[in-house]
Parts: sequence; structure tokens; C-alpha cells
Amino acid sequence: MIIASNLKANLTRVKTAEYLSELEKFLSAKNISQEVLVFPASSSLDAHAGRAIIGAQNAYPAQNGAFTGEIGVEHLDEFGIKTILIGHSERRHVIGESQKLIAQKFDFYSKLGFKIVYCIGEPLEVRKSGNEKMMHYLDAQYEGIDANYENLIIAYEPVWAIGTGLTPTLEEIESLHAELKKKSHAPLLYGGSVKITNVKEVLALDNVDGILVGSAALKVEDFCMMIESAQNLEN
Ligand code: 13P
Repeated sequence: MIIASNLKANLTRVKTAEYLSELEKFLSAKNISQEVLVFPASSSLDAHAGRAIIGAQNAYPAQNGAFTGEIGVEHLDEFGIKTILIGHSERRHVIGESQKLIAQKFDFYSKLGFKIVYCIGEPLEVRKSGNEKMMHYLDAQYEGIDANYENLIIAYEPVWAIGTGLTPTLEEIESLHAELKKKSHAPLLYGGSVKITNVKEVLALDNVDGILVGSAALKVEDFCMMIESAQNLEN
């Protein structure tokens, strides 16, 4: 399974290094065979040797250049980073990234062979408007995206479940994931208020190939417990 933590704008460079060091100790001690990804803040990116894969939360679709506040491929190459998160709901709804820009990033980073964790998800009012409208909304998030890209992981993260403690029911997650699997055979993660207390149930669902965790993964011990849950399910 794929177990990912999105640290968002949390943990400084020093704290991130401590986090990764604790994580690596755990991965080795428990001989974890799950795919573990960590997405630190841009300023906390660094070279990393170990089992966990480090990815960028964002980067501009350019080698470098006049893109104030952004980083380019050059800055990822410096640390050997070949993994990127694209389309996260906070970038769509808080920062205001359009599907057009998101598709440009996807095109750019897929051509470079990056592992892409591509996020989709609907706001609450869309979910409340019924299944047909919701699927239509999610379909639009596949516009300009190569759903057959070989190095693709999709993360379904309902916007209203992110950082709120709310989640869809297990049945809702399972049936939506079954629908989404028809659009792409890429591994499909669930994200949105995953925590130690619900991780086992979520990971056990059909068509859930892993999780993308925010707040509950900020404490490395908790993230490790979630990884161990995944490992135990597979043993
Ligand atoms: P929370 O786990 O805090 O709900 O965040 C999920 C998320 O946005 C991961 O990308």
C-alpha cells in the first residue's frame, strides 16, 4: 500500500529532518515494505537517503525563471526529488490554481517522468447536489490529465473532509473509489481526516490502495502507527 503524509505549511527544516530521521528508524526497525511518501514544505526539502520517498507539494512547470514565490525543476533536482503532488484542494481553492495550470504542471512533470500524486475532490455543496453532479465535477478534474500515465497515483480527497474531522462513510468511500477506478487504473489513495482511529477501516476497503494524511501525520509516531496498520493488513 501507499502511505503518504502531506506536511503542508508545517514543520520547519529542522523539525522535518527530525521527523524523517524518526521515520527512517521506524521503517528499518519494522522492516516496512509499504511505499511511504512524505511531502515537506518547499523550504524543508533536502537530500534524503532512506526508504521513504520525498516529494514536493508544489513546483512551477519550468526549469527556473521569473516566477516569484515558486520553485522549478532545478530546485528539485538539487535534492534528487522526482515526486510531486499536483492538484491538491488547497492549491485549487485557497491559492486559486485553475485546472488549466494544474494540467500544465501535470504535462510538464509527467514528461520528466516524475511520480505524480494527483489530487481530486469535491466541495460539500457539490456533494450535496447529488451523485450525477458530483461525478461531473470530479470528471472536470481529469481534464488535460493523462489518467493512464504510468507513474501516476490518484488521491481522492473530499474538500469538506480535509482537516475537519468529517469523513464520508466507509460505504461512500468504497463506492466512489469503485467509480473512480473506472477512469484510471492508477493506485487510488483516500485522503481527508484519516487518523489512527479510522485508518484500519479505510485501508481495508476495496479499491483503496493507500492514504494521504495531513494533520494526523504531523506527529511522526502517529504516522508510523498508520504505516504499521497498513503493514499488518498485508501480513
Ligand atoms: P487532513 O488529513 O488534515 O484532513 O488533510 C488531508 C490532506 O489534505 C492531505 O493532503
